Amino acid sequence: MAIAHGIKTLGVIGAGQMGLGITYVAALRAKVPVQLYDRAPEQISKGLNLMDKLLAKDVAKGKIQEAEARQARERVSVVDQAVGVRGLRDVDMVIEAVSENLELKQRIFSELSAETRPDTILATNTSSVSITKIAASAVPRGESAASERGRNSAGRVVGLHFFNPVPVMKLVELISALQTSNDTLSRSRAFAIACDKEVTVSKDVPGFVSNALLMPFINEAIMWLEKGVATRDDIDKTLRLGMNHPMGPLQLADFIGLDTCLAIQQTLYAGTGDSKYRPSVLLERMVDAQWLGRKNGKGFYEYND
Ligand code: 3HC
Repeated sequence: MAIAHGIKTLGVIGAGQMGLGITYVAALRAKVPVQLYDRAPEQISKGLNLMDKLLAKDVAKGKIQEAEARQARERVSVVDQAVGVRGLRDVDMVIEAVSENLELKQRIFSELSAETRPDTILATNTSSVSITKIAASAVPRGESAASERGRNSAGRVVGLHFFNPVPVMKLVELISALQTSNDTLSRSRAFAIACDKEVTVSKDVPGFVSNALLMPFINEAIMWLEKGVATRDDIDKTLRLGMNHPMGPLQLADFIGLDTCLAIQQTLYAGTGDSKYRPSVLLERMVDAQWLGRKNGKGFYEYND
């Protein structure tokens, strides 16, 4: 028998490409009302515009009915800026999708643990930050992580790692912190399935399975470009045509965002000390130059859209 996820309302923090994608699949596929919060109002309007475009495209392709698109859009509401994270106090699950910064995530989870009900699942879409460290910050004020209330609170924290573009990619990686309870894990898995995703499970190691394998591959491709082993186009073409990858590694790095790739590689390197994760100098310099990839028009390629 399928396990009930029991999520009647979802909160999403962060309206960037991942947060918006999660909002989209939750509202359209799991048919759950979503309250979206971002501290930058312009990010919310950009995100909602994108959602309107994606829904209109699905209607035009005949993938969904107009009424379904309208209902999905109506399920999404925006949390008032002045209210902030407190606006999510009545939801059954929160998925955080802000940038890869441990301190920022810990601040958010500490606030969420104080504001939400004790049975609210607190999920993070982090690509590489330790779920266990995030969970340790999700204890009510005045409690220690070692107290019973602290442990119970941390038990509702889980990693739910979606992939970009979220509406298209079939996978969610489920990551258990040391503290995560079995109930949190099974309800989170059921929710990902309701969003029409397949689920794999990874331990809470730096980068989990996905990025611990993907990032050295991307980094190696950047180093080969740096060394002049082959041109950008030939590196990407080799992987696209020789191995049937949908994108070459340099194109994929641009697509993920070079700042995100660098942040993940730094976490992997710091978390393991293994030199195979050391970010290439070229990647560091490109991020220094604010060449961040597709998101701001220039990375290994240039984008005009
Ligand atoms: N949002 C929603 N839908 C999108 C989309 C987006 N951003 N981009 C493309 N699509 C849809 C298109 O509408 C189209 O839908 P259709 O089949 O119904 O017509 C379908 O995807 C295919 O798109 P296109 O024909 O325009 O282009 P491609 O065939 O080249 O596919 C792609 C685009 C799906 C992005 C494909 O190139 C791909 O799979 N690339 C690899 C993506 C990948 O590896 N993602 C994981 C990144 S790692 C990650 O996210 C983890 C993080 O922690 C770093």
